Amino acid sequence: MRQPLVIANWKMHGKRAFNQALVEAFLGLLEEHRAECVLCPPFAYLGQLAELLRSSDVMLGGQDCSHIAEGAYTGEVSAEMLDDCGCQWVIVGHSERRQYHQESDALVAAKLSMAQRAGLTPVLCVGETQEQRETGEAQDVVKAQLLGALGDLPDLQGLAIAYEPVWAIGTGLTASPEQAQDMHAFIRDVVTGLDATHASGLRLLYGGSVKAGNAAELFAQADIDGALVGGASLDAEAFAAIVCAA
Ligand code: G3H
Repeated sequence: MRQPLVIANWKMHGKRAFNQALVEAFLGLLEEHRAECVLCPPFAYLGQLAELLRSSDVMLGGQDCSHIAEGAYTGEVSAEMLDDCGCQWVIVGHSERRQYHQESDALVAAKLSMAQRAGLTPVLCVGETQEQRETGEAQDVVKAQLLGALGDLPDLQGLAIAYEPVWAIGTGLTASPEQAQDMHAFIRDVVTGLDATHASGLRLLYGGSVKAGNAAELFAQADIDGALVGGASLDAEAFAAIVCAA
């Protein structure tokens, strides 16, 4: 039985006053829940959120980490620093990093291994563009991303995977529960080929315009174990409803 997991990716949003109001409102609205829950604010606010989440069971994560351990790399934040700031999780290979920062599968693989070495649980993001879906390449693209990032790992413990079709991110278009389930089942097949022992326990999250109104039907699918939520995670009521639906 896989415990549901719901992760908030605030992306580049937030200010101290907004963050405090959002987190306090969210914690106040959060009813009994089965899901593990993680908030990933911008790096600048990790310290603030570590304080705000101190007496809750909600965990903290980074939105990215460096592929290098330490050194003269201006602007980079290492996985070890995230751990030191109280993070237990880190998102790697988000499509916005792949698109705007040209992150390759090899770079994502290096980040993933840094994250694991620092004791963080990485959430590997994969997903196809609209054009790739229309030309029937969606599965090939996702498989290449999985093999490129995971191929060298000794096993698949201590990891989660988020399937985020790029065409559904921030667009209001959500993959149908059946489309999402089909891809999640495919992902589980691919990871079974890499590590048959741990694939059945691996948590697969769906991301792409998840909202309070569509979360339950997505979570009802056999291979959807939670969500990576962008826009709706900036609304305390919506995000609390999504966590409670998981
Ligand atoms: O990391 C989160 C995803 O990119 C989904 O974002 O919920 O705003 O579509 P969204």
